[in-house]
Amino acid sequence: MKEFLEKQITERKNSVKFSGQKKRIGVLGLHEGRTLLVGLDRTALCEAAAGCDLEQYKIDEAKKDRPDLFYTTRYDEMLSRSDIDIIAIYTPDQFHGDHVVKAFEAGKDVICTKPLVNSVEDAKRILDASRRTGKKLLVGQSTRFFESFRRQRTDFERGHLGTLELVDAHYTHRMDWFYEKSPWAATETDWIFLGLSHPVDLVRWYTGPIEEVQAMGYTSELGKQYGLKGFDIYVVNLRGKNGRIARAMGHYGLKEMFSVRNCIELFLCGTKNTSMAQYHDMKYQYTLDNGTEVTENPLYELRHYHFNSEIHGMHYGEFANYSDYFADALMNKSSYSPGIEEGVETFCIMEAIRRSAQTQQPVHIAPLLQEVGL
Ligand SMILES: NC(=O)c1ccc[n+]([C@@H]2O[C@H](COP(=O)([O-])OP(=O)(O)OC[C@H]3O[C@@H](n4cnc5c(N)ncnc54)[C@H](O)[C@@H]3O)[C@@H](O)[C@H]2O)c1
Repeated sequence: MKEFLEKQITERKNSVKFSGQKKRIGVLGLHEGRTLLVGLDRTALCEAAAGCDLEQYKIDEAKKDRPDLFYTTRYDEMLSRSDIDIIAIYTPDQFHGDHVVKAFEAGKDVICTKPLVNSVEDAKRILDASRRTGKKLLVGQSTRFFESFRRQRTDFERGHLGTLELVDAHYTHRMDWFYEKSPWAATETDWIFLGLSHPVDLVRWYTGPIEEVQAMGYTSELGKQYGLKGFDIYVVNLRGKNGRIARAMGHYGLKEMFSVRNCIELFLCGTKNTSMAQYHDMKYQYTLDNGTEVTENPLYELRHYHFNSEIHGMHYGEFANYSDYFADALMNKSSYSPGIEEGVETFCIMEAIRRSAQTQQPVHIAPLLQEVGL
């Protein structure tokens, strides 16, 4: 494992212009955020500096992996440290707006996990704070940074698919364990933000700006058991400004059938070829021009990097990938995606889907973009 990681780090350092000074990251929220603290052992351009959680027991658990860092239960204390460049936010969805604004105002750049925000009010506040302070933000859309999805993107960008004609994405996962651990998921957010932020971001990434959505929603038996406010099953049709169409689907109360359907899948149909990327099996499948189907499966090669040597597990590799990607963009002042404006635009698409499912009417995105100030 150690040798493998060292090779990855050296390769990455050699592939970009490294300023010599690693970006130092303070992590807020130490459940999913603990994955980042661990994953930062495989980055080349940034490193862990601090961890913060309201709960002392979460800090004690994080210390088992990284006893060498600064820890606090007070966000303000972490923000006041001059040895931290980037704040990485992994608190419950409904707090992201507040935590992003505070980080910007303290002069920090930000990585914010998905969903960036879950209300119009917070979308406006973070846009305003970023314009006021000039600080940068990357939305931690982990799926984009998983190996199978990276390979699919590379082939798309080199024109292997031809012109895209249909995008079909889903994220399905039974969530009783999540409600048990994080009761806020049932009452303080909506699965359109919490879960569908993966497929909706993937659709936006490939289709470009979205004009209109039509959505239907339903609440599963499991959702009802946990007192869900909104829907936990969504089926959505989306139309891009360029006229192309896409579909996004999510179900968070199903009995899973992993051998048939991975949690996250992205199916792309182009004029020349078709491809499919999967999370968590890490398979990337595509057609060649002559119709042959090819399967690339780097799971066993990359399990150390992505899953900390297990076969499936947490998001160590994706979080490390996006942290280095953002550090590179900050060091070299290069463009990156999804930044705050794209993130807020994707929020508007999700909010339009929520409204469409509630009203059973199609919803246009333009008025929402205007409302948030984009
Ligand atoms: N694929 C991914 O990128 C991915 C996967 C899972 C979760 N997430 C996102 O990560 C976020 C957190 O999810 P989770 O599963 O870790 O939730 P969680 O409820 O398990 O953990 C949230 C943590 O934040 C802490 N916290 C809350 N308010 C705080 C504050 N003001 N200061 C310091 N700490 C505070 C809590 O004590 C808790 O430990 C959510 O937005 C979720 O959508 C992303």
